[in-house]
Amino acid sequence: MSTSAPTKRLYIKTYGCQMNVYDSERMADVLRPLGYVLSDVAEDADLVVLNTCHIREKATEKVYSELGRIKRMKAAKAETGGAMLLAVAGCVAQAEGAEIVRRQPAVDLVVGPQSYHRLPELIARAHRASGEALAADFAPEEKFDALTAERSTTGVTAFLTVQEGCDKFCAFCVVPYTRGPEYSRPAAAIEAEARALAARGVREVTLLGQNVNAYDDGDGGGLAALVRRLAKIPGLARIRYTTSHPRDLDDALIAAHGELEALMPHLHLPVQAGSDRVLKAMNRGHTAEDYLRLVGRIRAARPDIALSGDFIVGFPGERDEDFEATLRLVREVGYASAFSFKYSRRPGTPGAAMTGQVAEAVKAERLARLQALLDEQQAGFNAAQVGRVLPVLIEKAGRHAGQVAGRSPYLQAVHCAGDANLIGRIVPVRIVEAGRMSLAGELEMATA
Ligand code: SAH
Ligand code: SF4
Ligand code: F3S
Repeated sequence: MSTSAPTKRLYIKTYGCQMNVYDSERMADVLRPLGYVLSDVAEDADLVVLNTCHIREKATEKVYSELGRIKRMKAAKAETGGAMLLAVAGCVAQAEGAEIVRRQPAVDLVVGPQSYHRLPELIARAHRASGEALAADFAPEEKFDALTAERSTTGVTAFLTVQEGCDKFCAFCVVPYTRGPEYSRPAAAIEAEARALAARGVREVTLLGQNVNAYDDGDGGGLAALVRRLAKIPGLARIRYTTSHPRDLDDALIAAHGELEALMPHLHLPVQAGSDRVLKAMNRGHTAEDYLRLVGRIRAARPDIALSGDFIVGFPGERDEDFEATLRLVREVGYASAFSFKYSRRPGTPGAAMTGQVAEAVKAERLARLQALLDEQQAGFNAAQVGRVLPVLIEKAGRHAGQVAGRSPYLQAVHCAGDANLIGRIVPVRIVEAGRMSLAGELEMATA
């Protein structure tokens, strides 16, 4: 490949959710024409980007400690006459803006999640050490217009952002403040990007959105219509989407799960808590009963669907009996996997100002009990696959020689003995062993 600009090294470290993984890849795409080539290490980089997450206090603090480490590398490079630009992108950039530079003066530029298409311009300004090196406005349409459909993806699976932002304002959550209001990309642009991915050998796309099932193409076409459109793309065998909000799971999407072979039987549907009192205080806009009814309907359409969820323990005002209601809901649903967190008080959110903040020790104890139950369910779900033959999309070489690894329709990691030429193919694998995190299997076919 030839480029007019001299080669420079780019190191990107990604924190947080899949949306940030997508954004990091797109940042590399935006910077490639300037001569930036991705590097695995920060030490020799000309540009270091931390693509950050603000969701919990711990996530934000991690960023500041990493900035301290990079600052020392930057100083070491300067001593040998080299230069390193340091950029903070993502949700901490959006939430804290210029405060970041105040706390860590080694930072050269700060760029929010809707502004990274402006990185080339910001870098030029930083080099001249002039002008504003902070970009944090909400104009997602401008960003997506600036990105081309072409991607540099080399894998078998890819993320594709279709919707961004959130209007739900759950009382604990920073996302509506860091990602801005809900915005859906035009279906035609998404299809073009998906076709370009398929042409590069991508077999599975995961459609991303903070509220992906609130997707609206502007003509009343929701996520189900988009999935149907993408399911027609030759080569694209599997479609997933995340994250869904219970309030936006409509009949069309439920029906699509029963009808579309390409739509994988896995649904990440966070509920957060099982007590109606807590759900109300969280401003979730649904009750436990609403959620259970939805689960019943999606299982009626697709009986084998694997459900995953997110949970928060110790939201302000959560009493023992509220927490017991969460455990009851978990037992009733039966999750294939889940993420669970101690409530983290986020400045500026309604929850931070609420009375009845729960003691750390109580949160820790509840989290341990919840995770024990969720782990048990996950192990049970995995164990139930032993003896079954599952279609596995082989994604990469396995950890050991002569092994390949991929995913089941239910998003479980599966490894089996096999040759690297299976990568990119969907093959029948008989599951012989199950752990909590992955399955081991044997190929059910002659390898040609
Ligand atoms: N948009 C998605 C995910 C948002 S963030 C959704 O609506 O579900 C991912 C998860 O982080 C949330 O589902 C929630 O469980 C958790 N989370 C968000 N804010 C939190 C906070 N202040 N403390 C602890 N966990 C939090
Ligand atoms: Fe946060 Fe709630 Fe929006 Fe999800 S729906 S991003 S939890 S405010
Ligand atoms: Fe974190 Fe922002 Fe994603 S706060 S979870 S990186 S939307």
